[in-house]
Amino acid sequence: MTGVRAVKHRGVAGSLLPGLLILIIGLQSCAAIKWLALAKTHEKVWNNTKLCQTLKRDAGLTKQQVRMCKQNLELMGIVAGATREAVLTCQSLFADRRWNCSSITYAPNFLADLTGGSREQAFVYAISSAAITHAVSRACSIGATTKCGCGRLPSEPPPGDFKWGGCGDDLRFGLAYADLFAAPGGKGKRRSKRHLVNSHNNAAGRKLISDSLQTACKCHGVSGSCSIKTCWKALPDLKELGMMLQKKYAIAVEVDLKEIFLQVNKKRMRGSRERRLVAVHRPDKRKDFQAEELIYYTKSPDYCLPDTTLGSLGTRGRECNKDSTSSGGCRSMCCGRGYTSHVMEIKQRCDCKYYWCCYVKCKTCTTKVEINRCR
Ligand SMILES: *[C@@H]1O[C@H](CO)[C@@H](O)[C@H](O)[C@H]1NC(C)=O
Ligand SMILES: *[C@@H]1O[C@H](CO)[C@@H](O)[C@H](O)[C@H]1NC(C)=O
Repeated sequence: MTGVRAVKHRGVAGSLLPGLLILIIGLQSCAAIKWLALAKTHEKVWNNTKLCQTLKRDAGLTKQQVRMCKQNLELMGIVAGATREAVLTCQSLFADRRWNCSSITYAPNFLADLTGGSREQAFVYAISSAAITHAVSRACSIGATTKCGCGRLPSEPPPGDFKWGGCGDDLRFGLAYADLFAAPGGKGKRRSKRHLVNSHNNAAGRKLISDSLQTACKCHGVSGSCSIKTCWKALPDLKELGMMLQKKYAIAVEVDLKEIFLQVNKKRMRGSRERRLVAVHRPDKRKDFQAEELIYYTKSPDYCLPDTTLGSLGTRGRECNKDSTSSGGCRSMCCGRGYTSHVMEIKQRCDCKYYWCCYVKCKTCTTKVEINRCR
């Protein structure tokens, strides 16, 4: 609780300087996920605020992130761990796609695939803010930091004759922290399309996580007598959240920035103009998109051939499955260029027998595996 208040404080300070804030947002919008470079840090002990300054240079941390780093130094190890988890989750979810999330490791110097407003960028923003929220909320419940504690107990009773207890994930703190860390800046008026879209996708990641707080219960008591039953609120694994985001990625909404006339005063026909994101080409003609949807404004290339201007690495040399018709199949992966096959022999221990006493003897078996790679 106190932690949330401490973090929120910064937002209040920001509102005193709206002009300066807009300027900072403008400068920061392109630095928005550079902090994923934190995945490369291998600090074990975060006990010196000088590290924050070093990270400003090496990981492209913004001024606000440096400030948060200094104020919450003990959370930085958790934040760095969250970035690693975001990277691994993204790469495992996209392992058999043409775009396989490998470019995420170029942080802080991303290619166009993660700066130009593509749906891949939308996914990465959402999973990144979800990862921070997730890791920080968990850290609260396991007592890894003194900045926060257990989540508040819900007011409605848990299922069955269970009681609320234990220590739930402190989602409120996690959300507030991720909101500030992952999406630096406040609410300026002249915001760019890029900033609005990135902020939306960041928020979509946090929204997903706050909608997926689950109830977990456990029996206690002597030899499983279940005389004490407790429940608490816990978050699903990041992989699970990532899979949900990947579904949203598949149906992401293309948006554009439109100037909208808002009628403020009906009698005098007065109003103001506001720049706002609207959905384009929706089959059902809806102009609005939902808070939990991912949005993009640049159509993705097919990622078949290398093209640095598009941030495409191409699929030459990628391993594929010749019998599959899905995204990992050679037909799709190699974009019609065909593939090469070679047979590899893999030697493995097999037919192991245990001899009394005390050793194990194995044979060596050779299995043949066919490896296919795109031309
Ligand atoms: C930080 O921790 C390391 C390893 O425990 C120690 O050697 C170093 O002196 C500490 N630095 C500060 C500023 O406390
Ligand atoms: C991901 O794709 C890139 C570009 O095609 C490739 O170089 C890399 O090896 C791939 N990574 C994995 C784990 O398949």
